[in-house]
Amino acid sequence: MIDFHTHILPGIDDGATSVEQAVKMLETLQAQGVQTVVSTSHYYGKQRSPQAFLSLRNEAAERLAGKIPSGINVLLGAEVHFTEESQLSHEAICSLAIEGTRLVLVELPFYRKWTKKLLDRLAEFVSETDYVPIIAHIERYPSVLRKPSLVNELLDMGCLIQVNTEAFLDKRTKSFAATLLEKGFVYCIGTDSHNDSSRAPNYEKAVLTLKDMGLEQDFLSVQEGMKTLLSGGQVPIYTRPVLKKTFHGYR
Ligand SMILES: [Fe+2]
Repeated sequence: MIDFHTHILPGIDDGATSVEQAVKMLETLQAQGVQTVVSTSHYYGKQRSPQAFLSLRNEAAERLAGKIPSGINVLLGAEVHFTEESQLSHEAICSLAIEGTRLVLVELPFYRKWTKKLLDRLAEFVSETDYVPIIAHIERYPSVLRKPSLVNELLDMGCLIQVNTEAFLDKRTKSFAATLLEKGFVYCIGTDSHNDSSRAPNYEKAVLTLKDMGLEQDFLSVQEGMKTLLSGGQVPIYTRPVLKKTFHGYR
């Protein structure tokens, strides 16, 4: 399995605080059946330049390098904070793509209503580059829960969608995330794990829940899709029903 969203690199963001903790997280993920881990440390444009981030990331990756459990493949990426005010150039955003791909994991603002300016900026990035934004943990944005059809807008724009494993376990988001998965709106799944305690890897629990819900086949399709994406292939965006209902209307 592939974990598309993690904060395992030590000492670079609010994720793993030491090499030991990072190794524990990787061992847990491996025990849960994960072989490929995409490391997506937070990138906030206000804190440092992409160059400074990338050199910090390389240092952290080097500290971890000899200690990665055998059989685990770690790919370097970032979770790029994207707002309407951000001064980041397209080139800077592209430099933060996941290793060997043109995919950028993007975190959008958590305020109640995304502005037209924000969505226009995202659309501009898509049309002016050949990189694909993957919207991190779609179930966590109040804007999306208020207006689920934003998921359609993002897909129409050329973005892809990631959900956290936690989405299937939390009763506030479970039905929404399951509906997205069932209807083919989900392209990537990740634990968004930050440590080995309060935000520890929980892949196994999510898989068991999805089996219970009869969504194992949909889950396996997402795994295949992630594999294709990470190997540079394209996953087709099919025509889907428009998500019109309110969050509480699902399942
Ligand atoms: Fe994250």
